[in-house]
Amino acid sequence: MLRNYTSTYPITDLSTPVTGTSALNRFASDIADGLNRTLKTTSSKYFYDAEGSRLFQQIMHLPEYYLTRCEQEIFTTHKQTIAKQLADGQGSFNLVDLGAGDATKTKLILQELLQQNAAFTYVPVDISGDAVSELCENLQHELPQLQTQAIVGDYFDALDWLDATTPGRKVLLFLGSNIGNFAPEERTAFLQKVREHMQPGDMLLIGMDLCKAPETILQAYNDASGVTAAFNLNLLHRINRELEGNFIVEQFAHFALYDPQQGVMKSYVVSKQQQDVSIKATGQTFHFNAWEAIHTESSYKFTKQQLHDIAIENGFTLQHIFQDKNDYFADVLYTVDQHDRTEPGLRGKLF
Ligand code: AVJ
Repeated sequence: MLRNYTSTYPITDLSTPVTGTSALNRFASDIADGLNRTLKTTSSKYFYDAEGSRLFQQIMHLPEYYLTRCEQEIFTTHKQTIAKQLADGQGSFNLVDLGAGDATKTKLILQELLQQNAAFTYVPVDISGDAVSELCENLQHELPQLQTQAIVGDYFDALDWLDATTPGRKVLLFLGSNIGNFAPEERTAFLQKVREHMQPGDMLLIGMDLCKAPETILQAYNDASGVTAAFNLNLLHRINRELEGNFIVEQFAHFALYDPQQGVMKSYVVSKQQQDVSIKATGQTFHFNAWEAIHTESSYKFTKQQLHDIAIENGFTLQHIFQDKNDYFADVLYTVDQHDRTEPGLRGKLF
């Protein structure tokens, strides 16, 4: 699509035009599908309009939201080892940052790789064209020696494009516990698809939040200043803005709970009274009983055992688990071994 990119770093735009009707139609039909269910639900991917992204930036600075700081600590403490392992003493590679955002954490690794004279191209991928162009401008100032090929688009469109155009070893980054938003079966589908794009020698570094004291986790999603509540309720504002909904947002409340057996944080928006909400773009009106809830997000937490199980189930070798000093968070390095040519879907089932 046509956008005015001011950065001289190359940006490939694989996204469908947001100004066209297709993205909006998709948003409308996803919201309608979710709100027509007996247990109402919406996809957490719709949190991130401009206002949602701004609120998430604020969340990352909250005292209760330990995830970002833990991953930063891991990268600061272990950047030499991480960079060495990613570069692997081999030739050049593509460092593909899935959901790069503003790349605050990635920059720690980029600096270290440059310092170690590693030969690599940084490939930030993000669905937000604004985020990518801002990032490229920023990188041009902060790391002018960095070789960059940015991509605006969906993760798998980006991986398809890379396979077709850009040979060489791939190191994939999926940071910030974004993997936690997937339900277990979605997570497996995602990792198997990622695995299919990887060859022996390729690597995947994933940020995963670990199981810990339930109250610590709960507070991270139920902060005292109410930023997370605003983030969650912004979805209703966004529906009002983009889909011409008439949610009276004050009549809904944020509610968060942690399930310590499933290891999942769940966020809801609860209707404080019986009411009807019409959303013009869906052509429908949705009824809410008093105290009926919409499930808006799941954020899964992982045990150490799961980090190992995930490797086996998806055809990876777990090379290293990097952790903060409190054992709150992990960045897990999965590799595809030279001898490991087994179909990812068959592993774990056969052995
Ligand atoms: C961006 C998906 C990692 O689940 O912790 C933060 C989003 N939701 N507070 C998370 C989020 C509420 C966040 N991720």
